[in-house]
Amino acid sequence: MILFKKAADLRNWLDVQEEKGNAIGFVPTMGALHSGHISLIAYSRLANPLTVCSIFVNPTQFNDASDFEKYPITIENDIRLLEEAGCDVLFLPSVKEMYPGGANPAMHYDLGYLETVLEGKFRPGHFQGVCMVVQRLLEITQPSNLYLGQKDYQQCMVITKLVELMGSSKKINVTICPTLREPDGLAMSSRNMRLNKEEREKAVTISRVLDFIIAAIRPGDLSLLKQEAYAKLEQAGFRVDYVAIAGASDLSPVDDWDGKQKLVALVAAFMNEVRLIDNMLL
Ligand code: PAJ
Repeated sequence: MILFKKAADLRNWLDVQEEKGNAIGFVPTMGALHSGHISLIAYSRLANPLTVCSIFVNPTQFNDASDFEKYPITIENDIRLLEEAGCDVLFLPSVKEMYPGGANPAMHYDLGYLETVLEGKFRPGHFQGVCMVVQRLLEITQPSNLYLGQKDYQQCMVITKLVELMGSSKKINVTICPTLREPDGLAMSSRNMRLNKEEREKAVTISRVLDFIIAAIRPGDLSLLKQEAYAKLEQAGFRVDYVAIAGASDLSPVDDWDGKQKLVALVAAFMNEVRLIDNMLL
């Protein structure tokens, strides 16, 4: 695996590769890698001669300063996992390299309704920061294929919209990959590393509650079901941001289900200091 820290060096190298006809698959991450991230590398390797992964803990997408400060950093292990996975290139830029003009928002991305609900509502400015960093990463790597995890359902929608808004001459294909889970069902997440043993045991309630929603949902009014799910999370010791059931294609709220519309159930909740999110398609 080749490691680049400078955007210009990476771009020059990729130019040569593209002249040879090598399509690029790109996996952006914030590091503290786990098997979920590595599965994205595997998807990319299946479809692209070259796979580029980036690791950058992006300060502009953290609306909570302590979440940023405590974000796990495990770079040596990350490099080992990427090498074992057969990743070709790691881009590991500094903040200065990513934001040479400073990390102040250079522009506003018009994400419309998407930014007003769920993660957009509970983490103000988060998706603007995600767009800012992903735009810069896409401009540097100019991939044919971009790989994202369903684990961050709304982020997938936001980045798909960003790719449309960027309207770059070279088409970027977005592939959304399934959520990898621990054996007990907890969605893999870098933030899981911050849970102590007791918190980790309780954290599985999120995926259990999503399973419960899938098993119990019936056409008609969904408010009682959401209330029950909310109560189960609170009983397990979570401070809940939201339990939502929404249209899978646009995240529009669904209070009364016709039994036909494709839905997604989404949860965000704090286990003490650590905020976890998960979702399942119904
Ligand atoms: P990060 O949380 O490191 O996630 C990087 C990618 O891995 C995202 O596409 C995420 O959805 C995916 N991922 C995380 N957990 C997963 C799991 N359990 N199974 C499958 N895929 C999983 O998301 C970000 O970083 C950042 O917001 C980023 C897009 C890199 C911009 O800074």
